[in-house]
Amino acid sequence: MKIVDLTREDRDWTHQTASLLQESFEAWSTYEMARDEVIDSLQEERISRVLLSHEGEVIGWIGGQSQYGGNVWELHPLVIREAHRRKGHGKRLVLDFEKQVAQRGGVTIMLGSDDEHNQTNLSNRNIYTDVPAFIKEFRSEDHPANFYFKLGYVIVGIIPDANGMGKPDILMAKRVE
Ligand SMILES: CC(C)(COP(=O)(O)OP(=O)(O)OC[C@H]1O[C@@H](n2cnc3c(N)ncnc32)[C@H](O)[C@@H]1OP(=O)(O)O)[C@@H](O)C(=O)NCCC(=O)NCCS
Repeated sequence: MKIVDLTREDRDWTHQTASLLQESFEAWSTYEMARDEVIDSLQEERISRVLLSHEGEVIGWIGGQSQYGGNVWELHPLVIREAHRRKGHGKRLVLDFEKQVAQRGGVTIMLGSDDEHNQTNLSNRNIYTDVPAFIKEFRSEDHPANFYFKLGYVIVGIIPDANGMGKPDILMAKRVE
């Protein structure tokens, strides 16, 4: 397996990545929407990397773009093909992304991890009543936030009702050195 930049020339990998995105997230409900997202990621100033199997199958994709004059990079999106999850591939892509960000002079990686399906104790709560307490008492068993915790990311904020009432976006970040 190897991780490589996704470029405009890689038409088959771009197609596979768009299909992977569409089948993995509700937000990209059509192939065309997913393809546009992947094509957007191919701009020179962005990061767009795919994990390939020995046979050339796209196993996962990670993307990102800089903010705050290059100090901060938003990790978005990250996806591993369902049959290949929980084998360390997500971790491998994030560690590679961190290296890419460091090489570009970035010091912070941030990301938003939505809770749209009542997967955490933040769902259906009025976050505004005590934001620090909600962050401190965050609990979840199978939400991707746990994956990011294991990689050293911490919760730095919550966007209440980001995906509809009671469905927040959980903002996480990590210093890259
Ligand atoms: C989240 C995702 C990228 C994780 O990728 P993965 O390849 O399955 O994760 P890894 O195997 O590298 O996991 C690394 C560690 O995190 C843990 N982990 C992974 N997903 C987890 C989850 N949903 N809940 C709790 N722990 C999780 C693993 O058990 C592993 O722990 P270990 O180091 O103690 O063995 C993958 O599940 C995915 O693509 N999900 C759908 C899309 C998505 O939610 N993307 C993130 C949006 S913010």
